[in-house]
Amino acid sequence: MLDQREYQGVPVRESQQIRSAFDSYVNGFRKSDDLGYNRHMELKQEHTYGVVREAMALGRSLGMSLEQLAFVEVLALLHDLGRFEQFHTYGTFADAESENHAQMAVRISKELELLQGISKAHSDIIYQSILNHNLPKVPDEAPPDVAFYSRLLRDADKLDIWRVTLEYNVFHTIKTEAFPDSYTVPSHLIACFEANQCIALGQIDSYYDSILYRLSWLFDLNFRHTIDQFVQRNITGELFKKLPVTTGLNPIVAAINQYVQQVNEWA
Ligand SMILES: [Fe+2]
Repeated sequence: MLDQREYQGVPVRESQQIRSAFDSYVNGFRKSDDLGYNRHMELKQEHTYGVVREAMALGRSLGMSLEQLAFVEVLALLHDLGRFEQFHTYGTFADAESENHAQMAVRISKELELLQGISKAHSDIIYQSILNHNLPKVPDEAPPDVAFYSRLLRDADKLDIWRVTLEYNVFHTIKTEAFPDSYTVPSHLIACFEANQCIALGQIDSYYDSILYRLSWLFDLNFRHTIDQFVQRNITGELFKKLPVTTGLNPIVAAINQYVQQVNEWA
C-alpha cells in the first residue's frame, strides 16, 4: 500500500474542467424518441457520479488532500467512459457481446484529449488503473501506484454497483421481464462463498445468480473503509431482498460473517 506522501495529485481546476468535458460528451447520448436508450445512458452517468463520490470518500478516509482527491475524481470520472459508446453501438453493457469497455474508455479519453492538461506520468497511471478495473484481479506485476489506484477504483466501483443493483433490475441491460418466484442457489456458487472466492462471470446462468455474483465481490475488497461500508449498508441483507423464496442462503451468510469477522480481527 502506498504511503500518504506518494499519493498523486492534480490541480482542482483541472478535475473541474475534465468533469465539464465529461458532462458535455455524455449528455450527447440521448434520443428524443427512445426512453429505454436514455435510461441506460442515465444509469451509467449516475453510476459514474456515484463512483466519484465513493472514490473520494475512500480517499478522504485515507487522509488525502484536495489535489489528491482531484486525481481520484478524474480516475473515477473516466473509468466507464466507454459505456456510452458501447451501449450506443451494441445495445448492451456485456463486454463479451461487444467490446472491452475499459479499453474503449482509454481510447475515447485519448480521442477527446481529456487528459491533455495533466502529466504523462499521471495519465499513464489513470489509463492503467482504468484497464485494471475491468479484470478479474489486479495483475501481480502492476507498479505500486497503478496497483493502489486500481484497487481504490475497484472498491469504489463495487460500492456503487451494489447501489445500482438494489435500485434497478439490471445486468448487461435493464431487465423488464418477470423472474421465477423461487430459486435454489447452485452448489458451485455456494462453494465460492465457502472458499472466500469471487464468483466468475462464466459460472452464472440466471439473473438471481448475478445477484450472488455481485455479493461475492466482498472477497475482492481492498480497503478497510469499503468493508466497513459493506457491513454498515447491510449489503448482504439488502441484496437478499432482491431474491425470491430461496434455498441455500444459510451457508452463504455463515461464510460472509466468518470472513468479515476475520478481517475485523486482523485490522
Ligand atoms: Fe466498468
